[in-house]
Amino acid sequence: MADTRKAIENDHASRVREMFATIAARYDLLNHLLSGQMDKRWRRLVARRLRDRLKTSEAVVLDVACGTGDLSLELFDTIGVRVVATDFCRPMLEIAARKVAKASKAAGGKEAIPLIEGDALRLPFRDRSFDGVTIAFGLRNLSNVDRGLAELLRVLKPGASLAVLEFSKPVIPGFSVLFKAYFTKLLPFVGGLISGSRSAYQYLPDSVSRFPDQKELLMRMEQLGFEQVEYQNLSGGIAALHIGMRPQ
Ligand SMILES: C[S@@+](CC[C@H](N)C(=O)[O-])C[C@H]1O[C@@H](n2cnc3c(N)ncnc32)[C@H](O)[C@@H]1O
Repeated sequence: MADTRKAIENDHASRVREMFATIAARYDLLNHLLSGQMDKRWRRLVARRLRDRLKTSEAVVLDVACGTGDLSLELFDTIGVRVVATDFCRPMLEIAARKVAKASKAAGGKEAIPLIEGDALRLPFRDRSFDGVTIAFGLRNLSNVDRGLAELLRVLKPGASLAVLEFSKPVIPGFSVLFKAYFTKLLPFVGGLISGSRSAYQYLPDSVSRFPDQKELLMRMEQLGFEQVEYQNLSGGIAALHIGMRPQ
């Protein structure tokens, strides 16, 4: 039984990794285009909200499922913390590496962000290593959301916080209907056309529909041991930012 579950999870992980490898080159362009640049504001908010919870000016923050590095760079630039970034898809990390090198040069050779290839369900870090952990649009892709949350909790220091940015359920009735039409019809069409992978952009609304909504995710974080969990709807609930702390 455990072997079957493991095989299913491994198969899921391979498919997700391959999918992101296929769209890596067009990922940033499509992100900004399809969200009307809202993704940039959302990531900036994550950085600011996490900054409010950091307990030291020497903080080291881990950005999990960092992809092409946009949130890692936002943390690095906006709040000036040391950042370690990790993802299991090499083509995404290669793009992140180019952006990180550019940012580090622009910052006068400031210490760059280490980019580490690793699986979010088996992070290559010791328990209680980080002063903050972030995951943006990554949690939904894991084969097991609860195990992912437990792993993120494991690497947080006591009293440190996790910030989860993820697509969620729009909360404004008329808007929800319009957004659903956009998200399930137009987005896969345009995303497929530009990236060459219709299935990757069909996977996006499909995976969001399977992901827990705002309240359910808050409850799951609490059940797994996070404290002071709260969430904020972004752009009418298209996305949500959840923050929770590892108990002292
Ligand atoms: C939608 S992208 C988000 C990238 C980035 N965080 C952002 O804000 O744009 C999802 C990323 O999660 C990564 N990912 C999915 N499952 C993962 C896993 N099990 N371990 C590590 N990374 C994973 C993918 O490789 C991909 O780069």
